[in-house]
Amino acid sequence: MYKEVPHERVHRLFYPVIPVIITAEHGGTIGAMMASSCIPISLNPSMVGVAIMTTHTTHRLVKESGQFAVCWLSYDKLDKAVYVGETSGVGVQDKLKAAGLSHKPGRKLPVPIPDEAVAWLECKVAWSRVSGDHELFAADVVAAYAQEDFGEYWRFENYTPIFYVGKARPDTSRYVPFRL
Ligand SMILES: Cc1cc2nc3c(=O)[nH]c(=O)nc-3n(C[C@H](O)[C@H](O)[C@H](O)COP(=O)(O)O)c2cc1C
Repeated sequence: MYKEVPHERVHRLFYPVIPVIITAEHGGTIGAMMASSCIPISLNPSMVGVAIMTTHTTHRLVKESGQFAVCWLSYDKLDKAVYVGETSGVGVQDKLKAAGLSHKPGRKLPVPIPDEAVAWLECKVAWSRVSGDHELFAADVVAAYAQEDFGEYWRFENYTPIFYVGKARPDTSRYVPFRL
């Protein structure tokens, strides 16, 4: 027996997910948001796609600057990640700082990189297309860096990913540490 899934729950079929932090800077404003809709879309050249709601502050900053970073945080930074994912950046000059995350510009692009990121990508937008209430940004990965824990794959010795399990089950935390 299958029951029909209402359209507003379709994205929840993808949970649990490891959300990333998308950051962007324009005109001195630093934005950041959590994103579960971020995937690799080309291996060679290396490209990523991210769907960003058009009303988000980070959307404006990505649109205006044409670049962004994709950053991974470990579970021990959960409180900071949750702030980034659940608080609007409207009127905030530096949302990473507001979340308690110090940062520096990337090595190849001037995109903000949290000092505590375990890995990050510096990305330049190649094209974008509005898709319903989101805009899909396809971007070239200009540079990518990761801590020692990443070799050919993640070894999960120091990095414990954040798993987002959704809001549907009130008896469960929405974020759980992923362990092998
Ligand atoms: C687990 C999780 C995943 C999210 N994924 C996305 C996403 O893929 N795209 C998106 O537009 N918003 C996503 N959001 C929502 C934004 O991160 C959130 O609304 C954020 O506060 C926007 O900040 P801003 O308005 O300062 O840019 C997600 C939130 C959470 C908690």
